[in-house]
Amino acid sequence: MDFVVTPWEVEGLVDYEKLIKEFGTKPLTPELIEKTKELTKSELPLFLRRKFFFSHRDYDLVLKDYEEGRGFFLYTGRGPSGPMHIGHIIPFYMTRWFQEKFGVNLYIQITDDEKFIIKPEMGLNDTRRWAYENILDIAAVGFDPDRTFIFQNSEYTKIYEMAIPVSKKVTFSTARAVFGFTESSKIGIIFFPAIQAAPTFFEKKRCLIPAAIDQDPYWRIQRDIAESLGYYKTAAIHGKFFPPLTGLTGKMSASMPETAIYLTDEPEIVRRKIWKFALTGGQATVEEQREKGGNPDKCVVFKWLEMFFEPDDEKLVQRYEDCRAGRLLCGECKNYLIEKVQAFLREHQERRKQAEPLVKKVKYTGKLAREMWERSIPEELKEGS
Ligand code: TRP
Repeated sequence: MDFVVTPWEVEGLVDYEKLIKEFGTKPLTPELIEKTKELTKSELPLFLRRKFFFSHRDYDLVLKDYEEGRGFFLYTGRGPSGPMHIGHIIPFYMTRWFQEKFGVNLYIQITDDEKFIIKPEMGLNDTRRWAYENILDIAAVGFDPDRTFIFQNSEYTKIYEMAIPVSKKVTFSTARAVFGFTESSKIGIIFFPAIQAAPTFFEKKRCLIPAAIDQDPYWRIQRDIAESLGYYKTAAIHGKFFPPLTGLTGKMSASMPETAIYLTDEPEIVRRKIWKFALTGGQATVEEQREKGGNPDKCVVFKWLEMFFEPDDEKLVQRYEDCRAGRLLCGECKNYLIEKVQAFLREHQERRKQAEPLVKKVKYTGKLAREMWERSIPEELKEGS
């Protein structure tokens, strides 16, 4: 295998077709995408048109539940180990689209516990601080405040209550097989899968999780046990990784600043990073480029435009052809991307400022959030066996 994808590591050039087979998920078919369009009565967003989400579990059943009036709810999350970059926030923008179009509740779990446990260098104060910073970025995405609950595990300790029945259903041998735990794994991380699965039981409806595919192992465990607790197996829709500036392999890393654009980066930093670090498929000299053309398939700048920053399909295709034909130079594409990223961040940062009052301490202050702080564990989860 020349690439690795686990919840804690992504390396190499990921072959997404292979991952579908290896993980036992299903490809997101044109029929399902068409069905989504029909049910939402909307134009398809870029991330569905361009297959950013490429795989799923039971998404067909989610659509059916919606169509037949049973409804569903959304769940996603973030491990707060540092500043958020563009690759982190994109799935949240996509999640917003689902919430907006289907009008459903959304739960967002911030796993400061997980990050504290697995990062030797981090104290609880660090992970709490990053949780707060990250929540501001997440709130800036603009979810429906009345239908969204953002919570941090070390603070919303009720999550533990929901994790108890889950943890009773999962053996160490299963968890070890799924996550590769060893004798030297910390006991906190061995229990943690129960905590990450718990929000899928927040409602007695089907849960849909939009997230990068590296989180799928958790859902596999959840799906093994959900029905025995009287709940639905969770559904998931899997995203690809947004490539680092420096190449098409692996994913952007918060610990390697040259690979990522952070959401708090100033416009000038954006310019410098893209200009200096972005890998393109260009030729060595201008003459060669004019003569032979560039290779957009090997170009991170083109990938970023394709995945998020160029919503106009025609313009994207035109750019592809112009590059191939040598009519475009890499500098022109870089400048175009720089402007797009700067504009996106300008708006995001503005909304981040406005989000502050919404994130009192660490929670969204809408109706759903108030309800969740009052809520106790559902009766059926208290049953034995
Ligand atoms: N473990 C995830 C991370 O490290 C955080 C997370 C918790 C999550 N629950 C989730 C991500 C649900 C996606 C969906 O980023």
